[in-house]
Amino acid sequence: MRKGFIVAIGYNQHGITVKFSHNGEEVGTSVTNFLNNGMCYLVYLETFDKHRGTGLGRKCMNNLFHFLKQKGIRRINTDTYTAMGFYEKIGFTSFGLGRSYINAIGDWRIYHYPLSK
Ligand SMILES: CC(C)(COP(=O)(O)OP(=O)(O)OC[C@H]1O[C@@H](n2cnc3c(N)ncnc32)[C@H](O)[C@@H]1OP(=O)(O)O)[C@@H](O)C(=O)NCCC(=O)NCCS
Repeated sequence: MRKGFIVAIGYNQHGITVKFSHNGEEVGTSVTNFLNNGMCYLVYLETFDKHRGTGLGRKCMNNLFHFLKQKGIRRINTDTYTAMGFYEKIGFTSFGLGRSYINAIGDWRIYHYPLSK
């Protein structure tokens, strides 16, 4: 864990919920579920409105990568229809469309990020 930036607010064998704290202020949050075989599913990531576009989303994810790797996670999966560009910028790879066929909201893409081979 990078000291001070990630604060675990819920952690057990099923997953972890964290808040991200920057200069003493809460700037975002994330929810991750642990799956089998060193896999996890990033359920949710958010940086709060006034901080968006300042690089904090990338910083939150870099810290989360580091934290999850320490916990033995080898691969992160997620899906999104709002932040495809964000996940691609920080190194996630898309492996196709998700539930777009049952959502009238556009493409819902599935992504993964390998933390180790
Ligand atoms: C998606 C989100 C976490 C990005 O956080 P952020 O703090 O704005 O991200 P950063 O400032 O670190 O951006 C990193 C890069 O991604 C790009 N980016 C950020 N959001 C983007 C988006 N929605 N679409 C395309 N590119 C995006 C930035 O331009 C930046 O690019 P650069 O490195 O070339 O400058 C934030 O907008 C958010 O909380 N959105 C609402 C919740 C959400 O959609 N969460 C994701 C799905 S669960």
